[in-house]
Amino acid sequence: MSKKWFVLASMGAAVLLASALAGTAAGRPAQKQRTTAKITLGFSQVGSESGWRTANTKSIQSSAKAAGITLKFSDAQQKQENQIQAIRDYISQKVDVISFSPVVTTGWDTVLKEAQAAKIPVILTDRQVDSDPSLFVTLVGSDFENEGERAAHMLEKVLQLPGAPSPVNIAVLEGTTGSAPAIDRAKGFKKVMDASHPDWKIVVSQTGDFTRDGGKQVMAAFLQSHPEANVLFAHNDDMAIGAIQSIEAAGKKPGTDIKIVSCDGVHDGFVAMTQGKINAIVECNPLLGPQLMDTIKTVLGGGTVDKWIKTKEGDFMAADAAAALPSRQY
Ligand code: AHR
Repeated sequence: MSKKWFVLASMGAAVLLASALAGTAAGRPAQKQRTTAKITLGFSQVGSESGWRTANTKSIQSSAKAAGITLKFSDAQQKQENQIQAIRDYISQKVDVISFSPVVTTGWDTVLKEAQAAKIPVILTDRQVDSDPSLFVTLVGSDFENEGERAAHMLEKVLQLPGAPSPVNIAVLEGTTGSAPAIDRAKGFKKVMDASHPDWKIVVSQTGDFTRDGGKQVMAAFLQSHPEANVLFAHNDDMAIGAIQSIEAAGKKPGTDIKIVSCDGVHDGFVAMTQGKINAIVECNPLLGPQLMDTIKTVLGGGTVDKWIKTKEGDFMAADAAAALPSRQY
């Protein structure tokens, strides 16, 4: 072989080797690198159950636009079968990447394997699944167990203020049954209770499905069946706001007769804190869009990412709410 042909052949082999290595980086299915080409993202949203979800949807849509990513968006109306169908549609449309916020943790293996067989990377957002981690690239979202722990610590602070109830009888409004935030917030809260507060008692706990109406209905039933409840831990602000309506309708003062701690930090939750109706909120940041778009570009460009890209969040007591409200972004 002449020197010129030997050099060309060596360069070709190097290019082939580099693309093979990039295609299998981080256990992902082999795929083309897409640093400059137009990217199409298929995104399946849980639904529109809460203020958090509305802010999350806006964040995904506006950041896809800003990042120059074509977004195919579908709303599953809190039904797993709709999400599975949406993911299958994205696979048959041969999108470059699929992302979804899973309504529940289980039941995803088959469809995730279908995406893997089609060599389409899947990036989870917001919520975790209970599947083999090799079936998805990463999760961009919060640590819900930590949020549950933080909620218990915020309740500790609330109970140090004047007017604290004793004994502590807690009612819990759970999120959607089987969803990661409902499972993990309950777990984190219980962990702190078991470790430090054997005197706290959960007197009743039931799902309000993360909706305002669910919180209102279930709290109305709690007030009848468990009039001794003097603390409410709501897994999200919307359920807390629904519960406030039922507490007031029953002639009690939310935030005073029944202390309330919730998760999210949406605008209406902050307003309720300024009115003294919610005592403390653990933030769960819905503005995941920019991080998700950056992650997509890194992954499709052949880069590696952490298996869980966590979101930064804060905690707020009612006394902080008025000062914080004007700068809240959602
Ligand atoms: O997964 C995040 C949770 O889902 C939020 O706390 C809740 O408001 C939403 O519906």
